[in-house]
Amino acid sequence: MNKPLIIGVAGGTASGKTSVSTILYDAFADRTITLLRQDDYYNDQSHMTLEERVKTNYDHPLSMDNELLVKHLKKLMLGYSIEKPIYDYTQHTRSELTEKIEPTKIIIVEGLFVLEDVQIRDLLDIKVFVEADDDIRFIRRLLRDTTERGRTIESVISQYTESVKPMHQQFIEPTKKYADIIVPDGKTNTVAIDLLITKINSILNA
Ligand code: ADP
Ligand code: C5P
Repeated sequence: MNKPLIIGVAGGTASGKTSVSTILYDAFADRTITLLRQDDYYNDQSHMTLEERVKTNYDHPLSMDNELLVKHLKKLMLGYSIEKPIYDYTQHTRSELTEKIEPTKIIIVEGLFVLEDVQIRDLLDIKVFVEADDDIRFIRRLLRDTTERGRTIESVISQYTESVKPMHQQFIEPTKKYADIIVPDGKTNTVAIDLLITKINSILNA
């Protein structure tokens, strides 16, 4: 099998990484394609109590098991399948289940730190940074985390001010400089998404 095309989609929390990645995934659903989420590669914290896990800074790069993500990307590149971890936001750790992922022609890897980690960055053929106004991202996150991730309004606000925002400024915003394309307005930016689809097609057909 030829080396797969690997597309990295970075950006701050609730910037629209998953939405943009899903549109790209759907656009190539007639080919073999995988969407890996870096969130599934948060460190395994099953040895810690729930009380301890809540205190982890999930916006610092060290909270990620990037070593495993790189290992998995390299295995897929060599044509081997992987057992991908599955993350449980309510328990703040990996679930006991894994998902078998077969090698595919296209791999999208999306997450906060996919442009921050040099080993991941070096594996990417196309680097995307999804951008959205900080206030908009906070509002989206508040809605999402209280409805989908089992959080209280108070916990979302304190987490945002204590770690999400400062870590974003320190570790995520600066990685915009590594992007080949910056996508303002995420999924509604159909021009940027169409450009990406055209580029991906041209690489695949070359
Ligand atoms: P990320 O993966 O960067 O955290 P998501 O794509 O999951 O972001 O988007 C976070 C939330 O914001 C979701 O509920 C999604 O539906 C919403 N959202 C994303 N992009 C937009 C947009 N352009 N306009 C309105 N809502 C959006
Ligand atoms: O989808 P999104 O990019 O927003 O996911 C990353 C966010 O998930 C991080 O900003 C981090 O604060 C949050 N997170 C969390 N609790 C966890 C793991 C991640 O709030 N257990």
